[in-house]
Amino acid sequence: MVLGKDIAIIKGNIAFTPSFGQLNIAENSFVVIQGKKVKGIYRALPAEYRNIPVTDYQDALIIPGFVDLHFHAPQFANRGLGFDLELLPWLENYTFPEEAKFQDVTYAQAVYKKVVSALWQWGTTRVVFFGTIHKAATAKLMELLATAGLGGYVGKVNMDRNSPGILMETTGQSLLDTEMFIKETIGRYELVKPIITPRFVPTCSPELMSGIARLAMQYNLPVQSHLSENTGEIAWVRELHPECQNYASVYDQFGLFGKQPTVMAHCIYNDDAELALMAKNRVYVAHCPYSNSNLASGIAPVRKCIEQGIPVGLGSDVAGGHEVAMSRVMSMAIEVSKLKWLASGKKEKFLTIPEALYLATKGGGSFFGKVGSFEAGYDFDALVIDDSSLEVAASNRYSVEDRLSRFIYIGDHHNIIARYVAGKKIEKPQF
Ligand code: GUN
Ligand code: FE
Repeated sequence: MVLGKDIAIIKGNIAFTPSFGQLNIAENSFVVIQGKKVKGIYRALPAEYRNIPVTDYQDALIIPGFVDLHFHAPQFANRGLGFDLELLPWLENYTFPEEAKFQDVTYAQAVYKKVVSALWQWGTTRVVFFGTIHKAATAKLMELLATAGLGGYVGKVNMDRNSPGILMETTGQSLLDTEMFIKETIGRYELVKPIITPRFVPTCSPELMSGIARLAMQYNLPVQSHLSENTGEIAWVRELHPECQNYASVYDQFGLFGKQPTVMAHCIYNDDAELALMAKNRVYVAHCPYSNSNLASGIAPVRKCIEQGIPVGLGSDVAGGHEVAMSRVMSMAIEVSKLKWLASGKKEKFLTIPEALYLATKGGGSFFGKVGSFEAGYDFDALVIDDSSLEVAASNRYSVEDRLSRFIYIGDHHNIIARYVAGKKIEKPQF
């Protein structure tokens, strides 16, 4: 290695969370980046780097990029609609009719450009997307995400039962299209990859679940779905699969529960056996507090999951959630955790800012590998936050931790002045 080659240095007030609850702050410090990865963080620059130019962000905050573990890209036009319904009628009356439109790739492209632009704007650097059953539209979503320089997993959705005719596949076609989609996209992009995406148990037959589990193994792909979101949904799964002990074991019996890296959205009502299985199989929870409030689903026991060793990240769950901004998903996660604390007789401790930041960065980021932190060897995904517009009076001196808290609660995308993904500065998408 030639010293200085491939090295970039940026400077500012650095904050990141190496573990749940731990906030590391390095004021006025340097991040040395080698290629895609963090080499180290230094308060004083080591002599070997002194001849390398520094991008000095001065008083700005530098934090890891946000990770959204659960986002339905085709539901973007439905944000804010139908929140007087619970999950199942909401899917039938709002979600499925909108998703059916993605048969038309021109419509899909118009929506997906807006989705990817919104992610860039709000500082989401990695995302796990649901597309629709349509492979052409979903491949277009991957292309747009990759063109923008963002990272993600993107799933062509599978649904072959209990769905409206306009949005139902035959089992055979679903498997064929999924394999074709995988072959077309698996090697095409560096940071954007396919993910196996059974919508949820009620819309996937046993044959389909077994078939896509085989594809996940064959192509070494991760898996995403929904689990225990709504009491009506759970009762329906019990009716469909009386042979199974619980909802999680339906996925498990078909090979979709942790044989490959797996993320399940919601997980509000898991019983102890399901939690133990998630911990054993390292199945992730995507906690989606806006969606769980909008659809009156409930409040997920996030701290309990973490205490049991289950990996947890945050999801916007657009369009059950109306917010793309992971900063706001963080504050909402804290807010609902306080309602849960009250409902538990002040027993289940609520989330703190460092805990929520961990969930929105390293917690979800670990689904991608070494992502979501500034420890050495991590991909350098970062946001540079100029929060000077949040100042009220020059005499108010805020600590870095307080500035972070204020950005999360009252900041917006105007405060994000630079974004990096895997060492590269990402400019506003030109579409
Ligand atoms: N369960 C199955 N499909 C969906 C969906 O699109 N959104 C949510 N929130 N839950 C689901
Ligand atoms: Fe969802």
